Amino acid sequence: MRIPEETVERIRQAADILEVVGDFVSLKRRGSNYIACCPFHNEKSPSLNVNPARQIYKCFGCGKAGDSVRFVMDVENLGYGEALRYLAKKYNIEIEEQEVTPEEQLKHTERESLYIVLNYAKTFFQDHMLKTDEGRGIGLSYFRERGFSDPTIAAFDLGYSPDQWDALLNDAQTKGYNPELLSKAGLTVTREESGKVFDRFRGRVMFPIHNVSGRVIAFGARILKVDPKAPKYLNSPETEAYHKSQVLYGIFQAKQTIRQEDVCYLTEGYTDVISLYQAGIKNVVASSGTSLTIEQIRLISRFTQNVTILYDGDAAGVKAALRGLDMVLEEGLNVSVATFPNGDDPDSYVRKVGAEAFKAYLSQHTQDFIAFKTAALLKDAGDNPFKRAEVITEIVGSITRIPDPIKRQVFFQSTARQLSVDEQTLISESNRLIRKQHDTQVKDYERQQERDARNAARDGGNTTQRSAAPAQNRPGPHDFPPDDFFNDFLDEAGISPAPREENVPADQPGAGQTSSGASGAKPTPSLKTPDAARPPLAYQEEECIRLLMNYGTRELEPGITLCHYILSELSDIDFQHAPYDLILTLYREAFSRGETLTAEDFMHQRPNVSEAPMTSQQSNGLQYQAISLTTQRYEISNQWQDKFHIFVPSEEDIGVLAEAAYGNILRLKKLIAEERMHDLLQKIRTVKDPAESDQLMADYMHFKRVDVEIARLLGTVISG
Ligand code: UTP
Ligand code: MN
Repeated sequence: MRIPEETVERIRQAADILEVVGDFVSLKRRGSNYIACCPFHNEKSPSLNVNPARQIYKCFGCGKAGDSVRFVMDVENLGYGEALRYLAKKYNIEIEEQEVTPEEQLKHTERESLYIVLNYAKTFFQDHMLKTDEGRGIGLSYFRERGFSDPTIAAFDLGYSPDQWDALLNDAQTKGYNPELLSKAGLTVTREESGKVFDRFRGRVMFPIHNVSGRVIAFGARILKVDPKAPKYLNSPETEAYHKSQVLYGIFQAKQTIRQEDVCYLTEGYTDVISLYQAGIKNVVASSGTSLTIEQIRLISRFTQNVTILYDGDAAGVKAALRGLDMVLEEGLNVSVATFPNGDDPDSYVRKVGAEAFKAYLSQHTQDFIAFKTAALLKDAGDNPFKRAEVITEIVGSITRIPDPIKRQVFFQSTARQLSVDEQTLISESNRLIRKQHDTQVKDYERQQERDARNAARDGGNTTQRSAAPAQNRPGPHDFPPDDFFNDFLDEAGISPAPREENVPADQPGAGQTSSGASGAKPTPSLKTPDAARPPLAYQEEECIRLLMNYGTRELEPGITLCHYILSELSDIDFQHAPYDLILTLYREAFSRGETLTAEDFMHQRPNVSEAPMTSQQSNGLQYQAISLTTQRYEISNQWQDKFHIFVPSEEDIGVLAEAAYGNILRLKKLIAEERMHDLLQKIRTVKDPAESDQLMADYMHFKRVDVEIARLLGTVISG
């Protein structure tokens, strides 16, 4: 599944930045450049700048920037390889995909192999439906009875699983697929008592679930027989490839139209999505069984800020519509709701009335979520004054979560009318809620600070604690235990724990003179105890540069180098400490010319390091950095391994390296988020104006969420 180097080059050559960006936004000429409203953030006046001469784009609003491939990755939410495939298709460039033999499979990462076997299973179910008597007679005729046309069936890759215990398992084995892989993909189950393995899906029509780039990652399967003991729908379990909470059924088929129509319809199930798609309403997805998750909302918000929920009109449907939606408001999306009469769902209703009447119904019955929720709760409360007061608090709570103050204002006005209360009453209630929230946040923060301080004191006092430290303190392959522990080993090994400065030849300047700012004036004596005065962020920046210099050209996955990965992760981040800020800038400049700098380039002071002239002081400082960041640690690691048989995971191992890079990026981002939170909190403490405080609070909450999310991800790096 690897794309050959020369094909990548052909694709990059063909993919003209104006054509690629022009598919998604309308470009206007401005001098030698083009401008458009940025698709990556909400804006009214254009700040996306496209430069055809340099074949790059940059948004001056949100900071996103890159080339054609990067643009496709961001706008379509694709990986690097997937973006290349997208462009290859657009420019009719054939990719010679190599046939994958079972042996080659072993070399792929686990997830990659799961994709392969899931894709095979999809084809198996399709073939079985279209090419066998059983499939045509049962599966295909069921779909036809439901009114699904052949193009619709093809667009969703629908299929049928034979009504046998092991049809898929046998076929897969004759084709050389590893049975273990089938099990990991959720396609087979093992009976506990007998250990017997059989197909999970039997005698059901199959709905493949695609990820956003169109890969099959799981299946939903509907029973056709009447069997009260068996569930109507059976779904794949969670696997390495399928995380239910992050997936929306139909997103692959819908995303283009969602962007064009600038609204996403959200339904409950497979059949709703497919029926509406066939009726020409293609911007529709389903959350399939789960109530909406934050990941699903973020997935939608890559394509539009407007969501309309289509649910059954019965009480359960309304309850479902209300659940989880405050979270959607909090993400800044505009939410509307439409319900259907007589317990019809979107699928049955569109089949009943047809496409045109359905669209007309939608345009008349779509209500904004706040109005919908207010009406629903008011109906429940009846004339009971206590219950009506609760409704006010509840609705104000929802409105307060909307990040945009102007939208909040509009909702206070309209809701005041709907509730027959004074608008000011709602605003006061909202301010009370904000203050309460604010106090809780400040307390949480202070408690956290105390905890951190306690942990730091404890870890500092007891060196053996370190290996059991939480995620961000986990010693990586090159993190060193604290000094006394470490020095004992060094003494025994006969290595002197020389600080880095001593590696600098007498006539060479130290690192700090390479760039402006005093913060990096002292080279890091990283073989000693971490310098208490040096902020943790400086260590992470250094580590990032060290990874770039040592392994920038290594491929973390086919076609994507460590340098590419790190630079794209850091696209909107600047380093704060010299000389790492300068080195990062040089990597960026080189990368935009299609080059990846190596430590040797810095060491030998090669001309490709910088297009702009550098002083010899700068150049010498960089040379010194390159030398110190690429030596020392490794020699010691090997000594440890040889002399003491201590296992030091080797960064030569691509998995270890990828994990180190991933962890480093997460820690960097976490530190930045924490810094922002700290600053915001200082401001929040002193600010008087409630509107301003409110905005600061919203910003604070944003970084808090980022921080929590990263902590969660770091957790999985450790355990996974
Ligand atoms: P329905 O019960 O209407 O399914 O649920 P259906 O296939 O349309 O059945 P009939 O023909 O009306 O009797 C609607 C959606 O809810 C999801 C499915 O995605 C389905 O498309 N669903 C339903 C499940 O996920 N699990 C279930 O057990 C039932
Ligand atoms: Mn139905």
